[in-house]
Amino acid sequence: MTKQKTIHIALLGLGTVGGGVYKLLNRRAGEMSNIVGANVQISHILVHNLSKPREGGDAALLTDNWADIINDPEVSIVVELMGGMEPAYTYIRQALTAGKNVVTANKDLIAVHGGELLDLAEEHGCDLQFGASVAGGIPIIRLLKQSLAGNEITEIMGIVNGTTNYILTRMTEEGMEFSEALAQATELGYAEADPTADIEGYDAGRKMAIMASIAFHSRVTFDDVHTEGISHITATDIKYAREMGCELKLIGVARQSAGEIEVHVNPLLLPLSHPLATVKDSFNAVFVHGDALDDAMFQGRGAGELPTASDVVGDIIDTARNLVHGSTGHLGCTCYKDLPIKSIDEIESKYFLRMAVEDRPGVLAGVSGVLGNNGVSIAQVVQKHKNLKGKVELVVITDTVRERNFRDALTILDSMSMVSELSSVIRVY
Ligand code: NAP
Ligand code: HSE
Repeated sequence: MTKQKTIHIALLGLGTVGGGVYKLLNRRAGEMSNIVGANVQISHILVHNLSKPREGGDAALLTDNWADIINDPEVSIVVELMGGMEPAYTYIRQALTAGKNVVTANKDLIAVHGGELLDLAEEHGCDLQFGASVAGGIPIIRLLKQSLAGNEITEIMGIVNGTTNYILTRMTEEGMEFSEALAQATELGYAEADPTADIEGYDAGRKMAIMASIAFHSRVTFDDVHTEGISHITATDIKYAREMGCELKLIGVARQSAGEIEVHVNPLLLPLSHPLATVKDSFNAVFVHGDALDDAMFQGRGAGELPTASDVVGDIIDTARNLVHGSTGHLGCTCYKDLPIKSIDEIESKYFLRMAVEDRPGVLAGVSGVLGNNGVSIAQVVQKHKNLKGKVELVVITDTVRERNFRDALTILDSMSMVSELSSVIRVY
């Protein structure tokens, strides 16, 4: 019997995801030679702090010295699970330049430097796989890049941040205010110690940039994505959304039409009949429209130790198979177009506008006049509660309007004495 080849891998990071990858590779170790056609062995684990107490991970494999890995000629797959820009960026560049294949879950890095790193991988005949950088356990990158490659994809809508989906679910189902739901998300370990990237939509924006680049074959970076988070959303907005038969979700949208790309992340009021409206708690889901596929939705756990490890290990197995067959580097960057990104000013949406106005004759006419003069057509107006200070709450739903016109109207409304507060402005699907 011929002795099977061993593929040596190095893990950079043994935190939540690194620990999960370590566990899963060990769980599947006995099957690897059948699945891959070679043994897969972890040879090094890079960590920041060697003296930190750890439950998992073979202590003999730990190092805090990158040189041990980059200078080891046996290591053919580097699995970057440290996160952040540096030193991840430098290490990945050095690994690819040395002919080592790379698997990463690092959306911050891929959303900015993905194109350049894919080109470097191709130059050196290496794989660079980053499936877990978007939607954790849902293999959406592989689906977009391979399974759906026969489609012209025109729209992707995603719930791609578990923390915010959890917060909005608690606000919807239990009437919690944002701060209380965020505290619960933090306690459960969903939100980061600094939750800014989650709650302000940056994390979702990075994931949308990565998916849009692949789906539309044109490079989109994080800077191209207009992001708005959920920190200003109140329990009242959600209550009114429900009364309208809608669910409020943080949705990333990427569309391609008339040779332009639109990418943004916003709170969105979705009708309950939309499949994304049913995605709750920390689950992620990606809704794709392709010319052959029509509509499809992919749903699952977007974060966490083992769900994320599932996608990372899938990428490791794929790379290992490519090594066995001498076919690494065959699937590089597929961005062959250079499509312009539509300015947010030109994007069209319907809006929900909640405001406090004076309770006297002529106010409704004044508000609708400003909207009408700026090309904003009203679909629905509801007068809500009177409060004790002679104010009433107005909720306006607009027809589809260009963002710039709507913002112009808001600026005027905000300056009018009859409008005491513009409480909420939320897009409507
Ligand atoms: P984490 O728990 O904070 O773990 C980071 C690991 O990297 C730790 O083991 C840390 O070492 C090590 N590390 C950090 N900086 C280092 C440095 N300069 N040199 C050597 N080692 C270093 O992070 P994580 O949640 O596993 O996330 C890892 C990556 O996966 C990130 O890119 C993240 O965005 C992505 N991701 C995470 C999830 C998730 O659910 N957590 C989901 C999808 C994608 P010490 O142990 O010594 O501190
Ligand atoms: N903070 C991210 C989330 C982790 O809440 O979805 C997965 O990328």
